[in-house]
Amino acid sequence: MSADSEFSDSVTANISRLRQDAALKSQSMNWLVASAERRYSYNFRWMGRPIIQYPQDMIAMQEILWEVRPDLVIETGIAHGGSLVYYASLCQLIGHGEVLGVDIDIRPHNRKAIEAHPMASRIRMLEGSSIERSMIERVQAEAAGKRVLVVLDSNHTHAHVLAELQAYAPLVSVGSYCVVYDTVVEDMPPDAFPARPWGVGDNPKTAVHEFLAGDGRFEIDRDIEAKIQITVAPDGYLKRIR
Ligand SMILES: C[S@@+](CC[C@H](N)C(=O)[O-])C[C@H]1O[C@@H](n2cnc3c(N)ncnc32)[C@H](O)[C@@H]1O
Repeated sequence: MSADSEFSDSVTANISRLRQDAALKSQSMNWLVASAERRYSYNFRWMGRPIIQYPQDMIAMQEILWEVRPDLVIETGIAHGGSLVYYASLCQLIGHGEVLGVDIDIRPHNRKAIEAHPMASRIRMLEGSSIERSMIERVQAEAAGKRVLVVLDSNHTHAHVLAELQAYAPLVSVGSYCVVYDTVVEDMPPDAFPARPWGVGDNPKTAVHEFLAGDGRFEIDRDIEAKIQITVAPDGYLKRIR
């Protein structure tokens, strides 16, 4: 057995132990709730652009991009562009792939900074609602014939995410992923998002569950959440299996 396959076997065994580790899961969740209350996800930048993510999810995305090697990463929800720049920089290191961002409101200063960024040649942006028919058609045209990875990180209501899943999950290539962020809202205290239209019972996780009940092409990759433990996307790493 090679040193590399011995290492992979030990990682696999560790992840399968972590999947059963209720104590660590509970501690991770407690920390996640406390850190979310302190706006932890707003602390980071990637290559100078603010990225509204937890570092553990970013590492999971790095593993996914390396494995999938997509031609096109489609992300709904651009904000300051940090996540677009992050995926584009991974494509740059891999030597392949482009990123297409969709946002209902691309602020001029954000657009300017993204367009001036060293990773800009791998990034394109479309402005409009991700669930508008004309936007879906534009993105479908961009995705045609490509190996596609989808990330949903825009409006986090049940209805919006379900509509995004119905529109964009079918674009995902077999073996690739549709990553749905902020499913963790379902597991947070009910008063955690007083100023938001989403909350417990109405959020990305409830949308994922409704979507999966009617679509057998995807399964939740539970190894990813077991390995990173801290994630804003529990039940949100959807792998296309057929
Ligand atoms: C959480 S932020 C995105 C964060 C970004 N992906 C990152 O990791 O840094 C959510 C973004 O979704 C956008 N958004 C809200 N409703 C939308 C819609 N209907 N269609 C597309 N984007 C929308 C907002 O304008 C906002 O920029």
